[in-house]
Amino acid sequence: MTVTEAKLWGGRFQGALHPIFEELNRSLPFDRRFVFDDLAGSVAWARGLAGAGVLTGAERDELVATLEAIAAELAEDDSPLDVSRAEDVHSFVEDELVRRVGDLGKKLHTGRSRNDQVATDLKLHLRAAIEKIRVGIRGAQAALVELAGDFHDAPLPGYTHLQRAQPVTFGHQCLAYVEMLARDADRLADASARMDTCPLGSAALAGTAYPVDREALASELGFGAGATRNSLDAVSDRDHVLEVIFACTTTMLHLSRMAEDWIFLASQEAAVLTFGDTVSTGSSLMPQKRNPDALELLRGKVGRVHGALTTLITTTKGLPLAYDKDLQEDKEALFEALDTTGTCLEVAALVAQDVVFDREQARAACGVGHLDATDLADLLVKRGVPFREAHDRVGAAVNAAIEEGVPLERLSAAAREATMPELAGVALAEELGTDALLARRDVIGGTAAARVAAEVERWKGLLGGDEA
Ligand code: ARG
Repeated sequence: MTVTEAKLWGGRFQGALHPIFEELNRSLPFDRRFVFDDLAGSVAWARGLAGAGVLTGAERDELVATLEAIAAELAEDDSPLDVSRAEDVHSFVEDELVRRVGDLGKKLHTGRSRNDQVATDLKLHLRAAIEKIRVGIRGAQAALVELAGDFHDAPLPGYTHLQRAQPVTFGHQCLAYVEMLARDADRLADASARMDTCPLGSAALAGTAYPVDREALASELGFGAGATRNSLDAVSDRDHVLEVIFACTTTMLHLSRMAEDWIFLASQEAAVLTFGDTVSTGSSLMPQKRNPDALELLRGKVGRVHGALTTLITTTKGLPLAYDKDLQEDKEALFEALDTTGTCLEVAALVAQDVVFDREQARAACGVGHLDATDLADLLVKRGVPFREAHDRVGAAVNAAIEEGVPLERLSAAAREATMPELAGVALAEELGTDALLARRDVIGGTAAARVAAEVERWKGLLGGDEA
C-alpha cells in the first residue's frame, strides 16, 4: 500500500476492506466540501499542540505553512480531491501533509479524533453556508420589494379559501413573502448564534488528553461563545444541522406558497401575471403553451429539503452517545438542503425581476364577486346597525345582487330599500369603489396604498442596511 491509500486506523487490520463496503464507508466524495474547514481546523490544532508542548515551535511553523500551502493550491485546483482514494476529507488532508513533510505530518493527529474534527468542520462550514443562504434570501426579498414598490397601489383580489374575499394591493401580497423570508433569515441567524461553540479538543469522546488551550482554539477559529462544555455532547451534537435544514425547509415552504399563488395568478382563469421568457417554458406538443415551470420547480423542490430534514431526524433519533458512524449521513442531507434552497432563492429572485403584472385585469377582477360586501356592512354599522345584523342584511343584499346580476352598488331600488333603508341617498359607487376599500385598510400591516408604500421604504432601508 502506498501512503496515500493507507487507512488512518490500519494498525489492527491485516485484510483490506471489501470494495463494496469501502464505497459505502467512504465520505470523501461529499465531505470534500469541508476541505478548507478541515485545513483551518488543522492549523489551529497544530498551534494548540505547540501550546501544549507536544510540538516544537519549528514543527508547528512547518505544519502551519504546509497546511496553508495545501489550501492555497487546492483553491487554485482541487483535482487532487478527484483522484484521491482517501476514506474521507480528514484522511485526505493527513495524506497530503505526510506526502509533503513525512513523519512530522503524522504528529498532527496527536490528541484529536476525526470525531471532534468533523464536528468542528461542520460548524465552520455551516457558518459560511448560512451566510450564503441569507444573502440568497436578501436577493429574493430585494426583488420582491422592488415589485411591491411598483405595485404598491395596484388592486388585486385577495382570497381566503381560494374564494375572492377583499381587494389587496399586489405590492401588499409581494411583501407578505418578504415577511416570511425575513423570519427564515432570522431562524438561520439564531441557529448560527446557537452553534457558536468549538468542539475541537473533545477528541473521540472524552476530551483530549493533552493540555491544549481550548478557549484559544475556539477564538482562533472564530467561535464567539468559546469551547463546547461537554465532550460527549460536542462530538455527537447535530442540532445545528437539524436547525439549518429546518430553516431551509421553511424557506422552501414559503417559496412554494408564493409559487402556488403566482402559478394561479398566471393561469388563464386569473390572467394577472405573465412570467418572463428567461423562466418560462413551452410545450413540445401544444404550440400555444407558456408554462410556469420555474415556479412549479420551486413548489416541487420542497420535497427534497423536507426529505433531508426527515433523513436527519430519523438518523439522530435514538442514537447512543457519543459518535456513531450513522452521523456521516448528516452531510449529504445538509448539502441537498443548502444547495436546493440556495438555487431556488436565486430562481425566485429571477422570476420576480421579470414578471409582468396586468393592472387593468386585476382591477377589473376586484369588481366581480362582491369583494365590497364587508364595507357595505360597515356603512350600515356607521349608521347604527349592529354588525351582526348588518352582516345578515348584506348577505341578503348579495343574494339579490347575484339574482339581478349586478354589483352591490347597482342593486335595484327595491332590493336596496328592503335590505338597507339606512343607506338611502348614499352614493354607494363612491363608498364601495376598490380604491376606497383599499384606502380604508389604513392600519399598521394593512393594505392601504400609503401603508404599502411605507412598508416598501422600510424594507428598502432594512435590506440596504444589512448589506452595508
Ligand atoms: N467521515 C466521518 C463522518 O463524516 C468522519 C468521522 C469518522 N470517525 C470515526 N470514528 N469513524 O462522520
